[in-house]
Amino acid sequence: LVSPKIAPSMLSSDFANLAAEAKRMVDLGADWLHMDIMVTSSFLCLILYESYLHFVPNLTIGVPVIESLRKYTNAYLDCHLMVTNPKDYVEQMGKAGASGFTFHLEVAKDNWEELVSKIKSAGMRPGVALKPGTPVEQVYPLLVMTVEPGFGGQMFMLSMMDKVRALRQKYPTLDIEVDGGLGPSTIDTAAAADANCIVAGSSVFGAPEPGDIISLLRASVEK
Ligand code: DX5
Ligand code: ZN
Repeated sequence: LVSPKIAPSMLSSDFANLAAEAKRMVDLGADWLHMDIMVTSSFLCLILYESYLHFVPNLTIGVPVIESLRKYTNAYLDCHLMVTNPKDYVEQMGKAGASGFTFHLEVAKDNWEELVSKIKSAGMRPGVALKPGTPVEQVYPLLVMTVEPGFGGQMFMLSMMDKVRALRQKYPTLDIEVDGGLGPSTIDTAAAADANCIVAGSSVFGAPEPGDIISLLRASVEK
């Protein structure tokens, strides 16, 4: 019903050679390129916003990088926004050439449906991400975090698989994406829970032959 999509997380790539890294991944068989857009927390934000929990303690790339990368690749850019104000970025991200725009449910509980239509109007495919502590709710194509967002190279959270299974039962034809700690030792578990989009950063970029890992991930999801 749903095809596998392997999405190397460019967070683990060499940022100084992003265009070449993107091409390398596409040539090695990547379906999507996963782009992690994060802003870091500050003490003031912690005091001012109830949604502070959503800030991640890391700072990565932003809209200008998506815009630059788009000039070098036609690949599907699967953008994962770890920000508290996703709606402020919809237009900019669309113009910059993002393909998918995934925001976190935790910061858009009341307006996620409105946000979904905004994203569609801006020519992108909407996605909703859930932090590990967030229960499954009535939402659309999903990105289930299998690590606390913030960094690559963390340990896969097996306990998230119940969430994936529940979502798959409810939405047999939607893309369900898992993000964090995916690699040769965890992929079969995620595939068995029926996730079909696989984000993998450190396992792909850290391998001597990243193409072999991409094929292995795909084979497991196809089984
Ligand atoms: C974490 C990011 C992930 C990260 C995954 O906040 O959303 O996309 O790059 O990295 P690995 O595959 O190394 O866990
Ligand atoms: Zn991500």
